[in-house]
Amino acid sequence: MRAVRFHEFGKSIDMYQVDEIDRPDPRDDEVLVDISASSVNPADTYMTEGMYAPPELPWVPGIDFAGTVVEVGDRVGDPDAAGQAAHFEVGDRVFGTGTGKHVHGGYQEYAAIPTSRVVHLPDNMDLITAGGVGCAAVTAWLCLVDFADLQVSDQCLIHGGSGGVGHTAVQIADAAGAHVIATASPENHDRVRELGADIVLDYARDDLAEAIIEASGGGVDVILDHRLDEYLDLDAEVANMEARVMGIGEAEMDPSVGVAASSAPRLKNLTVKFMKMFNTPDLKPPLEGIAGMIERDELVIDVAREYTLEEAGQAHHDVMADSFFGKLIIRP
Ligand SMILES: NC(=O)c1ccc[n+]([C@@H]2O[C@H](COP(=O)([O-])OP(=O)(O)OC[C@H]3O[C@@H](n4cnc5c(N)ncnc54)[C@H](OP(=O)(O)O)[C@@H]3O)[C@@H](O)[C@H]2O)c1
Repeated sequence: MRAVRFHEFGKSIDMYQVDEIDRPDPRDDEVLVDISASSVNPADTYMTEGMYAPPELPWVPGIDFAGTVVEVGDRVGDPDAAGQAAHFEVGDRVFGTGTGKHVHGGYQEYAAIPTSRVVHLPDNMDLITAGGVGCAAVTAWLCLVDFADLQVSDQCLIHGGSGGVGHTAVQIADAAGAHVIATASPENHDRVRELGADIVLDYARDDLAEAIIEASGGGVDVILDHRLDEYLDLDAEVANMEARVMGIGEAEMDPSVGVAASSAPRLKNLTVKFMKMFNTPDLKPPLEGIAGMIERDELVIDVAREYTLEEAGQAHHDVMADSFFGKLIIRP
C-alpha cells in the first residue's frame, strides 16, 4: 500500500515521500481503517519539523482520519478499565483524531488505529469531509465544553472564527446557546455568520477591543485564543470578571507568552488555561460529542482544498502560509 513518510525532520516540501509499504496489522485494541481522507493541521507540520517528534523515523504523519473499518483487533469489544467496550465491525464508517504522534497517521491507504481515537461517523456526513473533523472540532470541544464549561448565558469570543478550529468552535458555541462574537478576515465574515456567529469583526481593525466590548454588551466570559502572544492583553481588556481564556497556540510559536509579565489576568480573576489536544489520552468522549452534533446537523466542516498523497508537502506548506476557510484535506 502507499503511505506518505518523512525520513528526516525539516520544512522542505520535498522531504515527504510516497513509499510502498506493508499494510499494517491491527493490534488487539486497534481497528484497521481503509482511509478515505485525512486533513492538515498546523500541528502536523510541527511534528514533521521535529517538535512533538514521533518515536521513530521514517514516520507517517496525519493527526486526523476518516474511512471504513476493514479489520478488527482481537480484543476490540472487551470492556476497558472503566467497563466501556468499543463496538466496531468490518464495514463501519468511522472518523477520529490523535494519530500521527504515538501511532502512524492518516496520510496512507490503511491505518491501524487504537479504539480510544475512533468513533462511528453519522450517515449524514461523507467520508471525505469527515477527514477534516478530528483535531479541529475536538480541540474546540475540549476548550469550550469540557474546560471552559460554556453556558447559554455566556458571551463567547472566538479569535479566528474562519480557521479549522475556529469554524467548528463557532458552531459549538452557537449550539451551546452562547452569544458568539468571532474575528476573521472580511472576505470570510458572511460564512462565519452563517455558521452561527452573532457578530463577526475584522481582527485587523484598530479598535478591536472596543468593538468586542460593544458587541458583547460590556465584556466576554469565555475566549478561545489561538494567538496568545498577540491577544492576551486584549483578552484581559475585553474580559468580564472571572472569565475563562483558553489558549491553544501562539502566532510566533513562543509558549512563554506574556502571562508572567502581565498583571492583566490577575486584575479580573481570569482563568487562563493552556491546552494541547494530545494531553487528553481518551479522545472518545469529545469525539462522541462531535458525532452527536454532526448527526443533529449542528456541525459541518468546510473543505477549502483537497490534495493527493503526492501533494502532502505542498499541503503542509499551504496550511501555514495561506488564508483559507475551514480545512485542507488529503486523499489517498
Ligand atoms: N492546542 C491544541 O491542541 C491545538 C489544536 C489545534 C490547533 N491548534 C493551534 O491553533 C491555531 C489555529 O489552528 P487551525 O487549524 O485553526 O489553523 P488555520 O485553519 O490555519 O486557521 C487560522 C485562523 O487564524 C486566523 N488569523 C490569521 N491571522 C490572524 C490574526 N492576526 N489575528 C487573528 N486571527 C488570525 C485566520 O483568519 P482568516 O483566514 O480569516 O484571515 C484563521 O481563522 C494554530 O496555531 C494551531 O497550532 C492548537
